[in-house]
Amino acid sequence: MDASAREIYDVVGIGFGPSNLSLAIALEEHEANVEARPVRAAFFERQPSFGWHRNMLLPSATMQISFLKDLVTFRNPVSKYSFIAYLHAADRLVQFVNNQTFFPTRQEFHQYLEWVESGLSDRVSYDSEVVAIRKAAGTGAGEPECLEIEVRDGDRGRTHVRARNVAISTGLVPRMPAGVRRDDRVWHSSEFLEKYGRVDPNDLKSVAVVGAGQSAAEITRFLHDSLPHARVFAVVPSYGYSVADDTPFANQVFDPSAVDDYYSGTEQTREAFWRYHRNTNYSVVDDEIIRDLHQRSYDEDVRNDRRLHFLNLTRVDDVRRTGTEIRVGLRSLIDRETRALDVDALVFATGYDAMRPTNLLGDLDRHCLRDTAGRHRAERDYRLVTTPELSCGIYLQGGTEHTHGLTSSLLSNVAIRSGEIADSIIRRRAEDPEHRPAASLGTARRTA
Ligand code: FDA
Ligand code: NAP
Repeated sequence: MDASAREIYDVVGIGFGPSNLSLAIALEEHEANVEARPVRAAFFERQPSFGWHRNMLLPSATMQISFLKDLVTFRNPVSKYSFIAYLHAADRLVQFVNNQTFFPTRQEFHQYLEWVESGLSDRVSYDSEVVAIRKAAGTGAGEPECLEIEVRDGDRGRTHVRARNVAISTGLVPRMPAGVRRDDRVWHSSEFLEKYGRVDPNDLKSVAVVGAGQSAAEITRFLHDSLPHARVFAVVPSYGYSVADDTPFANQVFDPSAVDDYYSGTEQTREAFWRYHRNTNYSVVDDEIIRDLHQRSYDEDVRNDRRLHFLNLTRVDDVRRTGTEIRVGLRSLIDRETRALDVDALVFATGYDAMRPTNLLGDLDRHCLRDTAGRHRAERDYRLVTTPELSCGIYLQGGTEHTHGLTSSLLSNVAIRSGEIADSIIRRRAEDPEHRPAASLGTARRTA
């Protein structure tokens, strides 16, 4: 039996994106993580190495939150894992300040995340996809109830680890229009750079981007820059791109205290959050890129040389593929007429669904209580509400917009959220009469 199968971890984190990276730090920095009783944590990530939405690391894309909303600062401003500490280590702190921006590029923030990850890599296994969570059978006498996590280990087969808690943080799920399939020329924005990199740009004479969110606008601009010979069609369901509201009062919806207001509010409270503030995040675009795209369009008019086309109030209904041909079925929301557009590549920047824990939970799901709308109930500490038969904790980072509000899948509140989860795991460990004191030293690592 491998060493990991004997260990009972305090928590196993599923996915190692920013959310669980932040949780790993919160556990490491927790005052109860002492040598005599270390917090034992292990993380599993299906990618071969750390990567945060790599396929959208477009050269000019900037962060949509302040760098101060990094993985730690709101919880622990003196953490060694802050963005400022990273800048200092990279010898760029002075230049960054001279740059006078709150919003670094996504490429620089990615480098920050990689720098953080390099300090925590002893507790994560890559190429390791968690495929199931179940109640562990046959825990010995005196051993606490625990969960068994089944991991597909690259080409090494499957291993199983045990834990008192899991933190599921598997991220957003790309959304395509019903019936549309992805292939080598029909892409979702989440796979953009990888798929784009596989085609010869000279073969792309005409391309289309579907959607009116930040992803669509960024990709439209990128293609307009990168394919100077090509016609670029932006299929925009609205009358034109709408601006993301990041003005100070509206931005308060991302404050840690807004989670309390949302969580303890009535249905009317929650409905008001969405009605008034959906435009802080969904189907909206940063002001700078809207103006840039408009300027490009205007300049083409002046030159009488139009290759950037905006098809407004238009949705994609279907896509027909014959050989290399892509025929896009467009429906105008003005006259309900349909028409076809032929392109060489088609990008669906049609957004994402929230994280869904159900597939991983399998039979455990019957212990997880739901609200009248059929959604999982969650405690304030992001733990699923379960029947008394299940004492282990299933924590969610993501997938709790209906209980905790807009920040659930975002970075805005990640430092506080993961700190609250770490507090909860450690508090429950202290209260748990079944929990034996840990024998091993340091934050644990699975050794397959
Ligand atoms: P994330 O998706 O980052 O990570 C989940 C990880 O789980 C992935 O690495 C995945 O491989 C892994 N995984 C999935 N299933 C698994 C399994 N079964 N087993 C093991 N591993 C598994 N928000 C914001 O506040 N500010 C911003 O600037 C941006 N920018 C941004 C850009 C783009 C292009 C997108 C698409 C989204 C954003 N976001 C954002 C929102 C985004 O949700 C957020 O930045 C984080 O990615 C959330 O981090 P998570 O760790 O929760 O998910
Ligand atoms: P999004 O905001 O959900 O936008 C999806 C768009 O696709 C919407 O305009 C939607 O319109 C449209 N759409 C869906 N189906 C369609 C169809 N059949 N035909 C035409 N249009 C269709 O998704 P996103 O732009 O990917 O953004 C998701 C998250 O990632 C956001 O949090 C965003 O801030 C973040 N992001 C950040 C960065 C960055 O940090 N630089 C970059 C990209 C994304 P309807 O709403 O009308 O369906």
